[in-house]
Amino acid sequence: MYEDDIESVLITEDQVQAKVHELAAQISKDYGGRQVLLVGVLKGAFILMADLARHLTVPHEFDFMAVSSYGSATQTSGVVRILKDLDRGIQGRDVLIVEDIIDSGLTLSYLVKNLRSRRPATVEVCALLYKPEQLKTDIDVKYKGFEIPSVFVVGYGLDYAEKYRNLPYVATLRPEVYRSG
Ligand code: IMP
Ligand code: MG
Repeated sequence: MYEDDIESVLITEDQVQAKVHELAAQISKDYGGRQVLLVGVLKGAFILMADLARHLTVPHEFDFMAVSSYGSATQTSGVVRILKDLDRGIQGRDVLIVEDIIDSGLTLSYLVKNLRSRRPATVEVCALLYKPEQLKTDIDVKYKGFEIPSVFVVGYGLDYAEKYRNLPYVATLRPEVYRSG
């Protein structure tokens, strides 16, 4: 099935799982004694959010936001629109934004600003992947998984045209996949 479309695996399932466990341990230590509000950025973050939460040893709640960034293309538009906002207010809360990947950083930098304006106690960011060469804005990502080169990747929540999110690893697609649409 989807496996046939894969060009190469950048990060294996074992590597992803070890890193998620490590991030959860760090977060649990840093937030000891506090209640964390995990804010997942849909849809890409849903897999990371689920795996991360199951390793957390601090009490936590979930909320989600959906923002538009890519459509089905592989280039960022830079335009951020809130498609789904948080269910509840976050004033005084310790907010941890959970993202799949930081590419230009434009989506995240908008989100951080937007959430800060709601006067939470703290706002931090956890992202599994980030592409340092692509960063167009100054953002502080406290919990970072892997740095990757500027290539388009799928798997572990990340999609191409809404597909491949279920793959347990992070991989690149064969060029003919983009051509056939
Ligand atoms: P940014 O605003 O450029 O940082 O874009 C971030 C969003 O673009 C992520 O949340 C992803 O949904 C999407 N994105 C960026 N790079 C990739 C990629 O390599 N594969 C799949 N989606 C990506
Ligand atoms: Mg996303």
